[in-house]
Amino acid sequence: MHIDKIKINNFKNYISCEVNFSEKINFLYGKNGAGKTNLLDAIHYLSFGKSAINKFDNDNINHKNNFFSLEGCFSNNMVYKCTYEKSNSKKIFENNKKYNQIKKHIGKIPVVFLSPYDINLIRNYSTERRKFFDQILSQTSYKYLENLLSYNRLLKQRNAYLKRINNIEMIERDIIKSYDDKMINLNKSIQDYRLKEIENFTKIFNKNSLKINDEDLKYRIEYFSNFSYNMDTSIYDQNFEKDFFTKKTNIGIHNDDYLFKMDKNLIKRSGSQGQQKTFIISLKLSEFEVLKNNLNIKPILLLDDVFHKLDDNKIDTLIEYLLDKKFSQIILSDSIDERLSLLKNKLIESNVIRINKGEVDER
Ligand SMILES: Nc1ncnc2c1ncn2[C@@H]1O[C@H](COP(=O)(O)OP(=O)(O)O)[C@@H](O)[C@H]1O
Ligand SMILES: [Mg+2]
Repeated sequence: MHIDKIKINNFKNYISCEVNFSEKINFLYGKNGAGKTNLLDAIHYLSFGKSAINKFDNDNINHKNNFFSLEGCFSNNMVYKCTYEKSNSKKIFENNKKYNQIKKHIGKIPVVFLSPYDINLIRNYSTERRKFFDQILSQTSYKYLENLLSYNRLLKQRNAYLKRINNIEMIERDIIKSYDDKMINLNKSIQDYRLKEIENFTKIFNKNSLKINDEDLKYRIEYFSNFSYNMDTSIYDQNFEKDFFTKKTNIGIHNDDYLFKMDKNLIKRSGSQGQQKTFIISLKLSEFEVLKNNLNIKPILLLDDVFHKLDDNKIDTLIEYLLDKKFSQIILSDSIDERLSLLKNKLIESNVIRINKGEVDER
């Protein structure tokens, strides 16, 4: 899959702009603050119907205006358009036909976005890592997505009930039991799929990280859960008092984590910035491969500031890797002048797009 052209109106620092992309490697070059990340985010927006960076859509509208619109022409001869007006709902169109539900658009344009913010996957809490894997798993199985949505809804209700009742004697065990009965089965099916897919993911990850990493270190991912398959609803009974006093459900797949390690230690604690970045790059390139294998489409690969903080050896290794035929379109950004000439020699036939203050100059 590739994007041929994007038209941007009033999205972040772009007022009105049209960019053509090559179907292979595109190199966005511009100073800090020029709008490289914003352009990549516009492509992400067309794919997922949301920004990879801003939580609130109002923040994506150019400060001087009250709406934005994005339009992309893609290699499958489809034109997708997203519009958002202040205090109005967002709309997504496929060949001028509006979707009645935005979730129907998800999965039409597979995109993998690697951004400097991804370092939070290592540094932050388990929520970020679960979100990362859940987003992949939900794209490869609609059933998984449905189970996860049901589980999260039940969990919210169960916890709300625990919070609402102040006296343990007043808890109606039948109510709790009705949640437990449903949740135990969902725990099992969600964990089942996670275990299966994480095994597949780590196989690909181990292979990729060995290629990208030029040091004698092993990067690893370990799945961790306080739920195990042989548990039944009695586990909720055993934890009931704790659940009541902590006002939350203590056992279950909502606490799962994926431990990111370098050799035997957490990379969060022992990895240098460059090593952490290499880990994240391996993770994202594995995401690319898993989606490609499952969906039979090569996702568009967006690499924002990907060479930053990497030494020359790591940059060379990464470039070699990116030249592999398994990739389709790659759009990468950088702000260092010397790197542009270095990369132009290596990434032959790359399309250079120069960006300056929200305007684009193609050469
Ligand atoms: N809603 C907005 N309206 C106008 N400008 C914005 C908006 N959101 C971000 N910007 C501007 O976009 C610029 C950052 O663009 P960005 O794509 O992150 O740059 P870079 O090329 O360094 O990746 C900043 O100057 C910022 O002020
Ligand atoms: Mg940037």
